Amino acid sequence: MRRVRFGIVGTGRISDWVLKGAVLEPRFEAAAVCSRSEESAEAFALKHGIPKMFTDIGRMASDRNIDAIYIGTPNHTHHDIAIRCMELGKHVICEKPMASNAREVREMIEVARNRKVVLMEAMISTLSPNFLMVQDRLRTMGAVRHYSGSFCQYSSKYDLLKRILAGEDDSPVPSSFNPDRSGGALMDIGIYPIYPMVTLFGRPGSVKADVLTVDVPTASGMSTIDLQGAALFEYDGMTASALYSKIDDSKLRTEISCDKGVLSLDQIHITRQVELTMRGAPTSGRSSGPQTENVTVPCDPDEYLCEFKEFIDVIENGALESGNNSLDNSLAVAEIMDEIRRQAGVRFPADR
Ligand SMILES: NC(=O)c1ccc[n+]([C@@H]2O[C@H](COP(=O)([O-])OP(=O)(O)OC[C@H]3O[C@@H](n4cnc5c(N)ncnc54)[C@H](OP(=O)(O)O)[C@@H]3O)[C@@H](O)[C@H]2O)c1
Repeated sequence: MRRVRFGIVGTGRISDWVLKGAVLEPRFEAAAVCSRSEESAEAFALKHGIPKMFTDIGRMASDRNIDAIYIGTPNHTHHDIAIRCMELGKHVICEKPMASNAREVREMIEVARNRKVVLMEAMISTLSPNFLMVQDRLRTMGAVRHYSGSFCQYSSKYDLLKRILAGEDDSPVPSSFNPDRSGGALMDIGIYPIYPMVTLFGRPGSVKADVLTVDVPTASGMSTIDLQGAALFEYDGMTASALYSKIDDSKLRTEISCDKGVLSLDQIHITRQVELTMRGAPTSGRSSGPQTENVTVPCDPDEYLCEFKEFIDVIENGALESGNNSLDNSLAVAEIMDEIRRQAGVRFPADR
């Protein structure tokens, strides 16, 4: 078995989390790490037993003993890093969202296709075993009538943002709320209910969004960023909605209701439990309604394992792109998010 030798870009918490899952894939090898600082590269390499360190992405991507690059840096850096690595012949798995906007995603796709390398968005939601099971079940459920996706999670960085806005803290605005870093609720977590919707049902005809925003200090003055939102999507014969927030929690499940019944997912970013309620004969009076069945399948030992399995499968089978996390799906999602941001008045430096 030939292992795929990975270079990791960025030594933040996401690279740390992802590696714990990636190393469970026997075909994965952590060959190098690249950080902006030697100290961070060294500390990360030591922690994960990685033999090579770099502080220059071009040098890492030029290394002949590296086959693929994982990008775990802030959103506004994905485009340039990915293009640099792909131009040097490396396959790229890039953290979600793929880039700041659809223009950047299009440029990345063009380079991937020209260089015949694999480019895949690291979106675990659509690769997890329970999502794949749901996708399969939907083939037997009749016409889909409604999709409602939800991911609302009070951000650990929101209290800091509130202190910054109150003038009580002069720290920089954290990446996930920072327009200069192509952040915000939509890019950070709104993408989770949207990407699976696109994977399952394709590109919607139109989108209408209602978004809560706030103005934050950036390098070029005050800029608008989103805190939470709700979006409605137009599809033929069905309706679809997505709810997302970084300033409150919600236990709302994601539901897909069909002619023959409803699938209910505990959470859409990483689905761990799924219930199926098939519509029985019409009931009346006090007779019991349809029975709900737990149709959950076993999860992977680590939630990030599935994206490395998929990425390495695609490299090995020569298909050049993933089925569920396809380049078209990543582009459609970026276009939807551009439109929601346009309606909300959220603009990034990368849009100009
Ligand atoms: N899939 C998931 O579950 C998940 C969860 C959280 C975040 N994410 C995604 O992961 C990415 C990183 O998010 P994060 O919140 O971890 O970001 P972050 O903490 O701001 O940055 C992550 C790392 O990127 C490097 N970095 C920071 N600024 C950079 C710059 N200007 N240029 C190049 N490298 C830079 C730093 O590593 P060095 O100091 O070593 O250079 C930093 O530790 C985002 O795209 C986010 O959407 C995914």
